[in-house]
Amino acid sequence: MKPITNSWAEPYKMKMVELIKMTTPAQRKKALKEAGYNTFLLKSEDVYIDLLTDSGTSAMSDRQWAGMMLGDEAYAGSKNYYHLEDVVKEIYGYKYLIPTHQGRGAENILSKILIKKGDIVPGNMYFTTTRLHQELAGGRFEDVVIDEAHDPENEFPFKGNVDLIKLDKLVKKYGASKIPYVSIATSVNMAGGQPISMQNLKDLRAFTKKYNIRIIHDMTRVAENAYFIQQKEKGFSNKSVREIVKEICSYTDGATMSAKKDALVNIGGFMTTNEWEVFEEARNMVVVYEGLHTYGGLAGRDMEAMAIGISESVDDDHIRARVGQVIYLGEKMINYGIPIVKPIGGHGIFVDAKKFLPHLSQDDFPAQTLAAEIYLDSGVRTMERGIVSAGRKPNGDNYYPKLELVRFTIPRRVYTQAHMDVIAESTLRVYGRREKIKGLKMVYEPKYLRFFQARFAKI
Ligand code: F0G
Repeated sequence: MKPITNSWAEPYKMKMVELIKMTTPAQRKKALKEAGYNTFLLKSEDVYIDLLTDSGTSAMSDRQWAGMMLGDEAYAGSKNYYHLEDVVKEIYGYKYLIPTHQGRGAENILSKILIKKGDIVPGNMYFTTTRLHQELAGGRFEDVVIDEAHDPENEFPFKGNVDLIKLDKLVKKYGASKIPYVSIATSVNMAGGQPISMQNLKDLRAFTKKYNIRIIHDMTRVAENAYFIQQKEKGFSNKSVREIVKEICSYTDGATMSAKKDALVNIGGFMTTNEWEVFEEARNMVVVYEGLHTYGGLAGRDMEAMAIGISESVDDDHIRARVGQVIYLGEKMINYGIPIVKPIGGHGIFVDAKKFLPHLSQDDFPAQTLAAEIYLDSGVRTMERGIVSAGRKPNGDNYYPKLELVRFTIPRRVYTQAHMDVIAESTLRVYGRREKIKGLKMVYEPKYLRFFQARFAKI
């Protein structure tokens, strides 16, 4: 449906609200110190506007809540599983479905099935949990995203694209038999929510077909990617997001999904495949790690909410408002002169901490520092996406990612335009006193996915 105006105004109204606490600077200072300057360790009670993540933080619709009441909590063969299976087939087009408690449950199973020790897994930039599961299964991740993705200033509209020359080099070096699949994310999270183009996907499909290599799709934010294709890629302006989503999936062989993002639920995920043998093996494994293959760690009501959420997620009006709100915040930040990743991505604003705090070295954790300072200023909670998130290589050395970012992730259907104004104004205040900001040192480092639980102290 064509919009009535050019505005991104929301296609819904509120019928229930959740009260949030306003805090004082003294309270925030204390809370931050207790949290070891890690926003993951703050109590949500002490947060005013929570932009830590768009994961599991969406507001469900009245239809989804009504669906929760239709939960069929049978141990096996729940009605809601079959509903979800139908929706996944109809909207995404994948043949076989294995529900999991969330995305990383699916990544665990799929990595264990497809990856052998010594394998190479090329991907369009790493994601934290995805890469770790690939490594734990014995594989090595190789980044094949185009160079533009590592440059926050480069305004190329499809920075999630795969560099086929880099991929070709890997195939020549290691041989196709060492590459179980190419790992493709739509809306590349760590690059700033940057989309992959349909043309690139088609070219990738042609390339991988030649070598008989699979494409596995991390479809966590596929609808947002589809929206950018509709808006920016030639030949797609008259196609619906729903049609574009299905076409994207058609160029891949299977997928992992964290339904906590696009699909508008607070918990849930799945893996899919078009290959019977992979499905059979996944059905064997899901009972070990998640639960029976018709619930995979979820309640019947969770699967029902997910099935309904998936249908809502591909609605053109929904996605225009969702991404429109993100763009509103990003443009405001750009007007204030704050350095952010461009183009503005689908699920949040990524502030360039290297540019914001140029006097800090990467070992002073500029993005971690900036996230702490923004919380201190206004109670807005953001997330580090830089050297702390990147973690260590299997040999123990730190990864030094080019991008050192603070992510302002926007939950879906949760905050208003006035909240966006508060966020931008707070960031501007911190920008005004940036020269006085000092870095952090890490005083506790967990073994895996350290960003979740690491603790810091002021230098
Ligand atoms: N893939 C992508 C692209 C993700 O963004 C996430 C989660 C996962 C996989 C894992 O899914 O959390 O359901 O196990 N991203 C969250 C975030 C944590 O904040 O970006 P999960």
